[in-house]
Amino acid sequence: MAGRLMKTKLLVLFVAVALRYATAADSTLSMTPPMGWNSWNHFACKVTADDVRAAADAIASNGMKAAGYVYVNIDDCWQGDRDEHGNIRPNTKFPDMKGLVDYIHSKGLKAGIYSTPGPKTCAKYEGSYGHEEQDAKQYADWGFDYLKYDWCSAEKVYKRSDMQAVYQKMHDALVRAGRPIVYSLCQYGYERVWRWGASVGGNLWRTTEDIDDHYDRMSVIGFDQDGLEPFAGPGHWNDPDMLEVGNGGMNHDEYVTHMSLWVLLAAPLLAGNDLSKMSQETLDILTNKEVVAVDQDAKGVQGRRVAQEGPLEVWAKPLADGSVAVGLFNRGESTNPISVKFADLGIRSTVHVRDLWQHKDLGAFNESYTVEVPKHGAVLVRIQ
Ligand code: GLA
Repeated sequence: MAGRLMKTKLLVLFVAVALRYATAADSTLSMTPPMGWNSWNHFACKVTADDVRAAADAIASNGMKAAGYVYVNIDDCWQGDRDEHGNIRPNTKFPDMKGLVDYIHSKGLKAGIYSTPGPKTCAKYEGSYGHEEQDAKQYADWGFDYLKYDWCSAEKVYKRSDMQAVYQKMHDALVRAGRPIVYSLCQYGYERVWRWGASVGGNLWRTTEDIDDHYDRMSVIGFDQDGLEPFAGPGHWNDPDMLEVGNGGMNHDEYVTHMSLWVLLAAPLLAGNDLSKMSQETLDILTNKEVVAVDQDAKGVQGRRVAQEGPLEVWAKPLADGSVAVGLFNRGESTNPISVKFADLGIRSTVHVRDLWQHKDLGAFNESYTVEVPKHGAVLVRIQ
């Protein structure tokens, strides 16, 4: 009797564990934070298939692909109406979706698409409400590799407490569609999504409302991520929103802060500028090898704030080889010296410091390293 009870208990446990893993994120799809481009921050609703092709051309030829950028993602405003069978059709700006995805694939890149669990997207285009299975199958048929699923008008038809089930539903539909598709949850951090995003199949989840191309907005979002680091790791990432680097609303030092902070946060790196008309300065920020390597480090740890004195902050991210990436950030209004005390990193020996933006060894240091950091700027070093 006791033996049978034990067997039943074990069976129940096995089924529970199997179910949990059958529905959880496919982490093999995003062992490091996804990198690529998304149309929204620059093109918003004006985006056309030609803009997307031009982005793919640029990534494939300008060094971004070599730096790790792979996803070419269409955001909102591609949708037309549904045919008599309920199949979603693209609008006239996207006359041949399959052809576009094939083109992206022909460049050795991957393609992303966008929808909402609600009846309408945030820009009031057709949503997936009531058509989840059909849409997932359509995305797979077109060949998409990534879906951003944006809450938007779902707010009108569901309760916030339905959110997990709603996101789970599309994940299950994607699994049934049979194509590996990175699943990006976009619901602005509601309901503390970091606690359950991975369990409903999310490979990444937005932690905030939208970024914009101003230092104030970018920095509030970025520096506010402290504390979310326990929830990120290989396969499932916190997403503080897409990059604004190169969109023109911030100066060089501010974009350096943006990129330095995002790589320390192990954030998805989705460029949001017009890649076909980018300055060398912007490209250099997006593709700096040693900086991107911090984001893509195999250990997959999200960095955190280790020290703060007023507007001067020090953030650290442990890396796979035992070294630590450290960002020294000046949120103040004038140039200031900032120090990282090695004790704050748990290091008590002499260390070697390397400047990652400059690719320059700075030598050996005891106890601390101090550097002048411009207003709104950042220095990113690796401590070994
Ligand atoms: C929301 C999202 C943005 C973008 C727009 C599109 O605001 O947070 O990233 O996708 O919708 O309408």
